[in-house]
Amino acid sequence: MIRSYLIGTFLLERGIVMEELDLQAMLEEIRKTKAPKALQDLRIQFLGKKSALQAALSQMGKLPPEERASFGQRVNMMKKLVAEELDKQQKILDEEAIRLQLTSEEIDLTLPGEAHEHGSKSIINAITDEIIDILIGMGYEVKEGPEVETDHYNFEMLNVPKDHPARDMQDSFYITENLLLRTQTSPVQARTMLERSGVGPIKMICPGKVYRRDDDDATHSHQFTQIEGLVIGEHITMADLKGTLELLAKRMFGEKREIRFRSSFFPFTEPSVEVDVSCFNCDGKGCNICKGTGWIEILGAGMVHPNVLRMGGFDPDKYTGFAFGIGVERIAMLRYGINDIRHLYSNDKRVVKQFVKEG
Ligand code: PHE
Repeated sequence: MIRSYLIGTFLLERGIVMEELDLQAMLEEIRKTKAPKALQDLRIQFLGKKSALQAALSQMGKLPPEERASFGQRVNMMKKLVAEELDKQQKILDEEAIRLQLTSEEIDLTLPGEAHEHGSKSIINAITDEIIDILIGMGYEVKEGPEVETDHYNFEMLNVPKDHPARDMQDSFYITENLLLRTQTSPVQARTMLERSGVGPIKMICPGKVYRRDDDDATHSHQFTQIEGLVIGEHITMADLKGTLELLAKRMFGEKREIRFRSSFFPFTEPSVEVDVSCFNCDGKGCNICKGTGWIEILGAGMVHPNVLRMGGFDPDKYTGFAFGIGVERIAMLRYGINDIRHLYSNDKRVVKQFVKEG
């Protein structure tokens, strides 16, 4: 058992001058050190090559041989105590660092959540999706077509030759003589027919944007949304058209709704009709939404014109068909009582939130 670590005194007594090493002071300093870097420096200072303990060891050769072993033991014991204290302190600092990290990264599950504002579908997309869902449920496939369309598909294939007065019904944005922004989704009828090479049946819808040279106001927009429908088969009649649109109207506006056909004109259907739905607001009694008539116009439709079938490669003696074109903005405005079409494009969150369920 070593009674004392007073190495300096021990050496001095033997004529070797060396400053006293205070073990307690060293241990104390280690315990006081809170910074990892400072602790590393202390380790070098106390135990490194240039440390006082190392210097003491190097004096060993000057001692009488019989004292060297016990002197060496003292110094090494001191080194061991210092090293142990350094390790102990290092462990304390490491644990403290981990504890700090854990508390700083801690998630308090009891904190109230932050409500983030998030967007929702636009009204146009919500209604479009709803109509598409209903029609998919009735067995329709969804097709797409280009918004920059050729005059050929937008008009000629739909029985509207050049200089035909029906072109005036749809004022168009022309890009070149033969290219325009499509004025209707009907060219997708023609494209789909050609794709099928004269073989039916066809049962397709095409939702999309269309463009007309209208001045924007409360009821007009130079760009709006249509959903085209086309059915071609061997025994398709106007009764099929009526049944289809009645089901659609009931799904959209309620089971009590009825529809009626009014004679109309489109170049690509014959006969052509405007389709009205009984007013969902007043149940047909007459109110300001239906302008007292009890009926609201919702879309245009008709039996596919034989010329259109023929140009599309379908034999009109074998096949018949019907087509319809829904104006989505109109449906949205009716449905939600929106009196200005521009609200539908404004992206004003207040308008959207008022009408569209989040999802
Ligand atoms: N394309 C017509 C329009 O935009 C609507 C329509 C489509 C009418 C299909 C009949 C059949 O006015």
